[in-house]
Amino acid sequence: MLKVGLVGVGGISGAHIPVWEEMENAELVALCDIRPERMEKYKEKRCYLSFDEMLEKEELDILDICLPTYLHADFAVKAMEKGINVITEKPISLKNEDVERVYSAAKKNNVKFMVAHVLRFWPEYELLKEIYDTKKYGRLLSGTMIRLGGYPKWSWDGWMMDEKRSGMVPFDLHIHDLDFMVYAFGLPKVKYQYRSKLANQDYISLVYDFGDFSINSEASWYAASYPFTAEFRFQFEDAVVASENGKMIIHLRNDEKIDLSVEADGDTGNINLPKSNAYANEIQYFADCVENNKPVEKFKQEELECVLEILNNL
Ligand SMILES: NC(=O)c1ccc[n+]([C@@H]2O[C@H](COP(=O)([O-])OP(=O)(O)OC[C@H]3O[C@@H](n4cnc5c(N)ncnc54)[C@H](O)[C@@H]3O)[C@@H](O)[C@H]2O)c1
Repeated sequence: MLKVGLVGVGGISGAHIPVWEEMENAELVALCDIRPERMEKYKEKRCYLSFDEMLEKEELDILDICLPTYLHADFAVKAMEKGINVITEKPISLKNEDVERVYSAAKKNNVKFMVAHVLRFWPEYELLKEIYDTKKYGRLLSGTMIRLGGYPKWSWDGWMMDEKRSGMVPFDLHIHDLDFMVYAFGLPKVKYQYRSKLANQDYISLVYDFGDFSINSEASWYAASYPFTAEFRFQFEDAVVASENGKMIIHLRNDEKIDLSVEADGDTGNINLPKSNAYANEIQYFADCVENNKPVEKFKQEELECVLEILNNL
């Protein structure tokens, strides 16, 4: 049984904790947050206000880091120095040099490390990558990826609105799509960029050049409470593959469409994507790597370096 500790019991921990709780081969034994009220509902766990004390008193196999972005790398290295395997929420850091520092610490201490970039485990995005890899609908010609929402006013200590601690829209929001692009399609060049940033709003628009095709991407924290929207549309030679308005549809050249969002009912045009929780997929993937001593093959250091380098040059 893997013994797991989690630090940072804020918003995203609400997606991680239930996954650990349901896993048969892992037990979430300890939580840590500087705000005791965040841990009140987990009375059966050992709760710590100090990370150092948690590391000292617990014998953990895995640490799950759900802290604000600027703390990820230091906390990861500290835990790995104690021989603990680490999964951290995205991004690995705001600083390029931290990627090498974190991966070196993992290597030196012979532990596993993974950044929880959840789109790599999201069924719609996994299918898009499969369509690209297999050339099922021909070559990729163009793509659009969008991630929009209102300004995050809820974070602890307002850290998300502080560029030095969160990196704002590029590092907090757009990084989801950029990381997926680098993972699925390789290393791009930035062909066009535009950013409008004020005290309480941030918007970026980019065009990435992959050689044979380009991808437009938009991400925003609008000042208005705009509904969260994450969509994509990819033009292949023989089909447009789109995840829009809550539906994933493949629009074929012959005007037929395959709707992947409806229940399979025997109609050959309708198939279903697996109903799966991407946060569970990513956490189970890492736990499996740790339990069975497998390399964390789905992530490469150079991909993470490429993403940070692009974002730090915007
Ligand atoms: N993958 C996703 O879809 C997704 C979604 C949201 C957030 N995130 C990432 O998750 C991370 C956390 O975001 P969030 O929205 O949960 O933030 P949050 O502000 O809601 O939570 C952060 C928590 O960390 C605690 N904390 C701060 N300093 C601490 C310290 N030194 N020791 C212990 N606890 C400390 C705070 O009290 C707070 O409870 C961010 O890096 C963000 O990029 C990922």
